[in-house]
Amino acid sequence: MKVLDGKNLSNIIKVEIKEVVDKRLSLGMKQPHLAAILVGNDGASLTYVGSKVRSCKQVGFVSTLIQLKDSVTEKDLLLEIKKLNEDKSVDGYIVQLPLPKHINENRVLQAIDPEKDVDGFHPTNFGRMALELPTFIPATPFGIMEIIKRYNITTSGKNCLVIGRSNIVGRPISVLMSQKGPYGNATVTVAHSKTKNINELTLKADIIISALGIPEFLKKEMVKIDVIIIDVGITRVIDNTNPKGYVIKGDVDFKNVSKKASYITPVPGGVGPMTISMLLKNTLLACQRKD
Ligand code: GUN
Repeated sequence: MKVLDGKNLSNIIKVEIKEVVDKRLSLGMKQPHLAAILVGNDGASLTYVGSKVRSCKQVGFVSTLIQLKDSVTEKDLLLEIKKLNEDKSVDGYIVQLPLPKHINENRVLQAIDPEKDVDGFHPTNFGRMALELPTFIPATPFGIMEIIKRYNITTSGKNCLVIGRSNIVGRPISVLMSQKGPYGNATVTVAHSKTKNINELTLKADIIISALGIPEFLKKEMVKIDVIIIDVGITRVIDNTNPKGYVIKGDVDFKNVSKKASYITPVPGGVGPMTISMLLKNTLLACQRKD
């Protein structure tokens, strides 16, 4: 069993990005600039966005955090988006999800200039990804593909089960894993809340990518020997013995499933850190496109 160390890989990618940024700066070229809009005070979203801002500093990017109240109107949020679209200093930006219920997420994501949409959530970018055209690949699936690539995991012809069909992870990773290319060509099945007898699917899978959000859902009895596990779940579970009051759990019972797996990502320290590095990579790409 080999642990797929996303934390270490993410640090390697950050060093690579920093080298490119340092070179740009020494040549008098533009410093990449990532902005983030955060609406409300959701604990997990605050943590993610804080981590994105800190990572910008590590690689030498400029970062801007725009924090808006939970009560912000959709109209005012769209005005902030318009400002970022027009701000020439900003190369790329994200609107942290989820948004409060009174705001239409689709309208917001569609207002983002596709050239600055480093999350890759705009229909133009999502469509380009599906058509295998140059685009911004959403950071979490991009991070998963990068883990597979850098660990040189063979995917061609393998049965890949994706659990979850969200726009952020499940749907895009199912498209990417089935695409032509050295780290695609998998035979993909997508399981979701209406799937019956999921155990039949998990037991047939050579690769399982789980983005479900149910702590320790995947048990050792559900997987075959030598399975490759990519765990995208990040759920806060109350734990009063922990100073934070919670612990982070993945979708996979790591302790037991790891005994059967050939490769497995841990939680934390697997896909999560990769998401941030790939967002930085997309921002660098957005900046380089304008050179
Ligand atoms: N919420 C959870 N994951 C993500 C992500 O990758 N991007 C944004 N914008 N929001 C998220």
